[in-house]
Amino acid sequence: MIRILPSLRFTPLLSAAKPFCSSSPAREPPQFEARITPVAVSNSLLSVTPKTPLFLRTPSHATCLSEVWKWHDWAKDLATESSTDSEDGLDSIILHRELKWLIEDSIEDDPLVILHRSEIIADDGGKNVKLRVSLEELYELWRQRIENRRPFQYVVGCEHWRDLVLCVEEGVLIPRPETELIVDLVEELVTRDGRFKKGCWADLGTGSGAIAIGIAKVLGSHGRVIATDLSPVAIAVACHNVQRYNLQGMVEVRKGSWFEPLRDLEGQFVGLVSNPPYIPSDDIPGLQAEVGRHEPKLALDGGIDGTDSLFHLCHGAFRMLKPGGFFVFETNGEKQSKMIVDYMMTNDLKDCFSDLKIVPDFAGINRFVTGFRL
Ligand SMILES: C[S@@+](CC[C@H](N)C(=O)[O-])C[C@H]1O[C@@H](n2cnc3c(N)ncnc32)[C@H](O)[C@@H]1O
Repeated sequence: MIRILPSLRFTPLLSAAKPFCSSSPAREPPQFEARITPVAVSNSLLSVTPKTPLFLRTPSHATCLSEVWKWHDWAKDLATESSTDSEDGLDSIILHRELKWLIEDSIEDDPLVILHRSEIIADDGGKNVKLRVSLEELYELWRQRIENRRPFQYVVGCEHWRDLVLCVEEGVLIPRPETELIVDLVEELVTRDGRFKKGCWADLGTGSGAIAIGIAKVLGSHGRVIATDLSPVAIAVACHNVQRYNLQGMVEVRKGSWFEPLRDLEGQFVGLVSNPPYIPSDDIPGLQAEVGRHEPKLALDGGIDGTDSLFHLCHGAFRMLKPGGFFVFETNGEKQSKMIVDYMMTNDLKDCFSDLKIVPDFAGINRFVTGFRL
């Protein structure tokens, strides 16, 4: 089940204008040594049982092919009728692509028996195919997608991100394509300086566990990642994804607010990453319906100007990192990334970090702030 195209590009969680880049004096070489051995994911964290995505369910629903064709005709018509030209509307091309993916995820047989029905002999309509959901559920899922604007990723229960297929559901943010760059930045660093491979990393506000899993794979057998989140659903889903990739020995998931679950590890991290909530509160009502109506506010709302969590993370990064340790924060882009750099270069943080940089995302928006602890 490989998807080449992104399933749904959400409107960027805000963006603005001009490029900015800043750097401070050269840093001391870091001294690294892995002394922390995270324990495996603890099942006692799992107060929520994650849902099984469609593609992993048992194909136990034998259904007459002609009935599935009927559903497909209905679903195509609904997609076409519901597409609008408005900026926040549903896009017909995207919906038809999602419909094809929904079929791929739902059927055990070759999806072409549905998608290329004109090439199938008419008699085949009487034959049964095996579905992973009942036909009634398929009608309901597509109705939810179109009428309730439920994100496609929640409908099928997964998202393709880097080389991973991550389980997602309501209550956990769907990882975005631009966030993949955080893992790329870490990969670049550890390739340049192997010492970063051996130490312990933190992913704060891990959501589905996407970044933590991506980093663990980059670090290979030497590295360790601790992933934290406040949301019980995010914790359950992250644990589930870590287990699916068999990374329990490398990624530990801890529940709590930001640095609170990491008190025992102050000053011991070689790297710290976070994609925190950063949308200004007043912008939340204007978000695309899929995002504003369905994704968790805890993952989106960053306070009045969106910087509440980011400023908190700046202070914590100094406490948690070893001298020479690296950090990456994702921001709302442009103005906000500059605010974070300015904040780190002033007040009580002014002599705490070096090599502060703003890094653009794939769309050229100045999105990430990176730097090293002095
Ligand atoms: C923008 S989402 C990012 C999720 C994931 N890292 C990703 O990139 O897909 C922010 C995450 O921060 C978590 N969060 C919000 N407030 C938090 C807090 N006080 N402590 C820890 N995590 C928090 C949310 O539950 C959410 O999972």
